[in-house]
Amino acid sequence: MPLPDSIPAPPAEAVAPLMRGVAVLQRLTEANGVLSPSALERATGLARSTVDRIVATLARMGYVRLDGRDATLTPRVMELGNAYLAALRLPDLLSGHADALADELDESVSLAVADRDGIRFVHQATRRRALSLSFRIGDLLPAERTAPGPLFATEWTTDAWRTWRTRRQQDPHHRGFPTVPPVRHPPTDTEASQDFERRTADAASAHYALDDQLIEPGLVAVSVPVRDPRTGRIACVASVVSHTSRHTAADLRGALLPRLRATVAAMEETLRQAPPPAPGPPRSGLAIWTGASKQELGREFVESLARGLTVLTAFGEGRAELTLTDIAKATGLARATARRALITYEHLGLLTPTTTTIATTTAATDRQPPHRTFALTPRVLSLGFPPLSRTSLPQIALPHLRTLTDAVQETTALAVLTEPGDEIRYTARVPASHVMSVDVRPGTRLPAGRTTAGRLLLEKPPAPYTVRDEELEQGVRSIAVPVHDRTGRVIAALNAATHVARRTTEECVDDILPALTSTAAHIETDLHTAARFTRVPLT
Ligand code: PHB
Repeated sequence: MPLPDSIPAPPAEAVAPLMRGVAVLQRLTEANGVLSPSALERATGLARSTVDRIVATLARMGYVRLDGRDATLTPRVMELGNAYLAALRLPDLLSGHADALADELDESVSLAVADRDGIRFVHQATRRRALSLSFRIGDLLPAERTAPGPLFATEWTTDAWRTWRTRRQQDPHHRGFPTVPPVRHPPTDTEASQDFERRTADAASAHYALDDQLIEPGLVAVSVPVRDPRTGRIACVASVVSHTSRHTAADLRGALLPRLRATVAAMEETLRQAPPPAPGPPRSGLAIWTGASKQELGREFVESLARGLTVLTAFGEGRAELTLTDIAKATGLARATARRALITYEHLGLLTPTTTTIATTTAATDRQPPHRTFALTPRVLSLGFPPLSRTSLPQIALPHLRTLTDAVQETTALAVLTEPGDEIRYTARVPASHVMSVDVRPGTRLPAGRTTAGRLLLEKPPAPYTVRDEELEQGVRSIAVPVHDRTGRVIAALNAATHVARRTTEECVDDILPALTSTAAHIETDLHTAARFTRVPLT
């Protein structure tokens, strides 16, 4: 298949399986996280056997799950986007300000960064209401359809404008931006250019910009740039997003812009005072596991894909700019292997060379200058982040409950305490296929003190597990373990229910507890990854 002019051919040293794996992750992301193997074949143009090997490798890495035959992205894949967002630091430093403004105004507030000629969201403080369309963390929008776009464009070079014009000519309907409605009647090139250039000039003098229903009817936004105090350049753009049923674009400027400006001033002060990032725990050997035997990893396992993807996880907080040496050290990969992954990612726009010079000693045989550092780009968020950024604890738990029910042959469920704490609610449940199984549907509320899960959740501090005979249903014996959030707080109970005639209390502990405990750990791992930069609802 000939490549379109705008996509340069990959350099000779690029790792082909890594490029294919990235393409599979990106097509899955665009499809909202789920595709059948044949749909993946069509979307990527790859042969079925290649798709199968890539999906098997991604499954082995825990980035996709095979549900029936469909490939489904898992929360674990968010570790790639998390690496970028942690390295960026802006969400960690500024999201509190954005969330407070959203509360104050009762409107959604977002933070976006520039991604070439587009904008990409790195934080969303959203309101739940009927009339609101809000974008997800990681979504990419064409600059000219947004309020942040003209602000970023005030810093564009001639080259960047040329890239923008070329993209507009090649994709006037914005089909390359699956999260925005397509443009039905695109303006002429001249009209589009003049309009965006005028909006950019206005943004340069007014230091704010408006989006008056550029994305879709009803959606309005006002944006202000947040400047990096060291460089004076735009670090990100903060926006307040509303609907014309609540505010016109003129209202946004009059009523909300002053408060947005005050928040942005506070954000810039936070950036000014931020201590240097704490270097996280030193990383080493991230990719060692990929060297295990084929027997262990599976016949279909594509080592070069797994190794390449691991390179992205070498980045993180306090690890925003890494040299080839740093990456080889963190991953345990040979320098030549790490170098080829870097070349591949640079070609794909997922990684960019940075210009910081740090003194390191490196063998002169490497063609990369020793001081050359690399940083992840916002495009890393296109590897699975947006569809998973809206996940909930029940969604995270459900596939794990299925595996658990399968393993222990008992009905398993997740329960949370409801306000003010006198009831529990089952939020996810997978029944065992016994004739007689406990019938509590998700959503069922029960008095907390009379259920095993509830008793566990009411204890302070909760025990590692509880086994009890249920008071509400005769003959039901159940065992529960706690599920913790990132801060160590108990937020839910994972529960398996049997019949008193089927297992004794001791048998519950011996036969079910180990599987229950390891399932809770898997749910926690997923939850902690998903909740690093997004709010994961418990119900
Ligand atoms: C958003 O945060 O969803 C948003 C921000 C700016 C826009 C449009 C949407 O122009």
